[in-house]
Amino acid sequence: MSANVYPVSDEIAKGALIDKAKYDAMYKQSVEDPEGFWGEHGKRIDWIKPFTKVKNVSYDPHNLYIKWYEDGTLNVSANCLDRHLEKRGDQTAIIFEGDDPSVSEHITYKDLHERVSRFANALKSLGVNKGDRVVIYLPMIPAAAVSMLACARIGAIHSIVFGGFSPEALAGRIEDCGAKVVITADEGLRGGRGVALKRNADEALSHAGVKSVEKLVVVKHTGKDIPWNDARDVWYQDICDAASPDCPPTEVNAEDPLFVLYTSGSTGKPKGVLHTSGGYLVYASMTHQYVFDYHEGDVYWCTADVGWVTGHSYIVYGPLANGATTLMFEGVPSYPDASRFWKVCEKHKVNIFYTAPTAIRALMREGAEWVEKADLSSLRILGSVGEPINPEAWEWYHEHVGKRKCPIVDTWWQTETGGILISPLPGATDLKPGSATLPFFGVEPALLDHEGNELEGATEGSLVIKYSWPGQMRTVYGDHERFIQTYFSTFAGVYTTGDGARRDEDGYYWITGRVDDVINVSGHRMGTAEVESALVAHPKVAEAAVVGVPHDIKGQGIYAYVTLNADEEPSDELRAELVKWVRKEIGPIASPDYLQWSPGLPKTRSGKIMRRILRKIAANEYDQLGDTSTLADPGVVNDLIDNRQNR
Ligand code: WTA
Repeated sequence: MSANVYPVSDEIAKGALIDKAKYDAMYKQSVEDPEGFWGEHGKRIDWIKPFTKVKNVSYDPHNLYIKWYEDGTLNVSANCLDRHLEKRGDQTAIIFEGDDPSVSEHITYKDLHERVSRFANALKSLGVNKGDRVVIYLPMIPAAAVSMLACARIGAIHSIVFGGFSPEALAGRIEDCGAKVVITADEGLRGGRGVALKRNADEALSHAGVKSVEKLVVVKHTGKDIPWNDARDVWYQDICDAASPDCPPTEVNAEDPLFVLYTSGSTGKPKGVLHTSGGYLVYASMTHQYVFDYHEGDVYWCTADVGWVTGHSYIVYGPLANGATTLMFEGVPSYPDASRFWKVCEKHKVNIFYTAPTAIRALMREGAEWVEKADLSSLRILGSVGEPINPEAWEWYHEHVGKRKCPIVDTWWQTETGGILISPLPGATDLKPGSATLPFFGVEPALLDHEGNELEGATEGSLVIKYSWPGQMRTVYGDHERFIQTYFSTFAGVYTTGDGARRDEDGYYWITGRVDDVINVSGHRMGTAEVESALVAHPKVAEAAVVGVPHDIKGQGIYAYVTLNADEEPSDELRAELVKWVRKEIGPIASPDYLQWSPGLPKTRSGKIMRRILRKIAANEYDQLGDTSTLADPGVVNDLIDNRQNR
């Protein structure tokens, strides 16, 4: 834990939207009078029919619903495009920076509006109606943002699947949401290498369970030759060219769904987190403005992928609703070399830069000389998201990238929360490296003990949020019961985050990581159960248990214990085959870093795997195993310790 405190500098405070006094006053109002507060701030977006009701929420597990602005109507794409045309039609909405450093493009609001309108009409001509699901499986290119906004324009529900997911993972998500149309590209590009998106999509669509898809829209990106199915496939460019550029936005209710985004949980398959339109947009745009102290004219860059929630809220919806210039980067931080992020900041004069601790750690390892190669004088605010940032990485980011002038906003939130819940505000919050600091307006965190008692003062416990906020997820797509079970049954009357946290004497929150069986690999959520079920699906595997293990760059790595069928012999070839198998079943992000053969797993007499023990062994903390006497066969523990994978 770092003891350093970085007070708000006068220079930042002077120009900031929110200073200390304003934060205190607004926070107070937001929790004492949420209806008044959110009623006022709900007006920051354009409504077709203004809302008269602000909030209608019940956390009662027998009758659970979450509604904000429920009688208002709007269109999300009109909020991100049309309403800016008069004032900033010629301003850049999106700066696209390609994987190849010689490729970049500026797209104005006017141009983006036309592209979205054309594609929205094209989707309509393919039979996509309000409420239909559209799966987007694209690289980080402008067509991804266009696709999201085109769906929003006609009231269709998009579900983005990260381009790094395998055909199997893609198929599962298409099947779960029953998508009518899938949008992909011939290929993606990452670090100069092609990613076979169309081929993956073809494979996904050939799965027996995938029956709903009528059309596959293909963006020509690298120009690679690809197989073509005349009855099903259409070129994005062709249908956009043929469509009218005039597409009046469809009026939707505040509580109509905007998107479904699949995320990993502690059990079962990934769940479709459903966000709706009105409250989500109010919350995404408001947090974007205040957390990043966004000012008119700023160039803002979030390095996430639109396949994750960060890309939804803080590359597309939040920034565009605010009329910002948002940068979309197709590539990776290490290509062509480790100065790429900083060169891009220099090239586009980025003012606000938002990235993940895993990227910081990887670049830190390459050395500060790569940062010195670029002129970073345009930077004003830095951000971090996805996992706890270790104080060492924070200090490096602050010193070498921020030159000790740029505040770092360490933003804690989740796919489920729609937007940032705990974070410093640049002009208001003194910083402590490694702490996400204080709650955003309207957010009331609490720490509970195992019995659900609220703990007071400086303490540590399970992090819950006491009351609803407009950006909160509304349900699990197609499974409201799972929504209730996952988030509202562990503790009564509050939203359970799945994270643990410590609160210090200043009321600052320090997220300590997941308290459930979710691991966080390079800022990406992975359910241990998902990796386990991929492993046991292999014909030679009898049983598997997966845990997270500390990893220098990724934050957490994946450590798998595998028990083979009785007639199978362990070998290095089989180990490699199993790692490959998991990549194929889920995607490269789920590759086990370590795979240990385990003739037996530590189980209780009732057959429950004791993951606590497996975690300790994986972390080389086998002198702290605690009580193993309740195990059915305590002997397996020594065997596992002796056969640890060297790290
Ligand atoms: C973790 C990403 C510490 C946390 C927006 C959370 C963080 C999970 C932070 C959600 C942070 C995210 N400090 N931990 N600043 N941000 N996390 O759904 O464990 O991909 O529950 O959303 O990431 O991951 P998700």
